[in-house]
Amino acid sequence: MTSEATSRQADQIPADLLAEIEERITHYPVSKRSASLPLLHLWQNHFGFIDDSGIEWIATKLELTPVNIYELVTFYPWFRREAAGKTIIRVCRTLACAMAGSYGLREKFCEAAGVDVHHESHGFGHAPPTSPDGKFSVEFVECLASCGTAPVCLINDELYESVTPEEVPSIVKELAAG
Ligand code: FES
Repeated sequence: MTSEATSRQADQIPADLLAEIEERITHYPVSKRSASLPLLHLWQNHFGFIDDSGIEWIATKLELTPVNIYELVTFYPWFRREAAGKTIIRVCRTLACAMAGSYGLREKFCEAAGVDVHHESHGFGHAPPTSPDGKFSVEFVECLASCGTAPVCLINDELYESVTPEEVPSIVKELAAG
């Protein structure tokens, strides 16, 4: 358990997030436990990652034990236990994209964004490799369901299709300019 008592996410839940959580739980009248993943998505969308207090808060809310939530957070790579960069570049590495050059593309993105391509995650559910200035994270993901336009990247919420290594520097430059 690593979070500081002074910056616990559970102490900073805004009213609109709380209302959304309450509403989402009503979708699962038979078993509150089924709301675990939806609540984790809401939490990460708001805070950017899920700290210890978030795990405990969600568990209490759903009448579970913290380990029931912790195991989800550490099982699914989508969930993070640490903050990621402001812009998250997700490069698909599944077959069609891998054959179209996504491994080289990831290296290009890392190079252009100042992210250490050899960075290793410290364990399950940690943040992806992130640039020292905190602007960019680059990570691999599995199929983004756009195999016909491989290689494909998801940058924050926007899909980039048929991406070439040559255009990577200008994409990153535009993103950095905001
Ligand atoms: S393999 Fe990359 S989008 Fe499907």
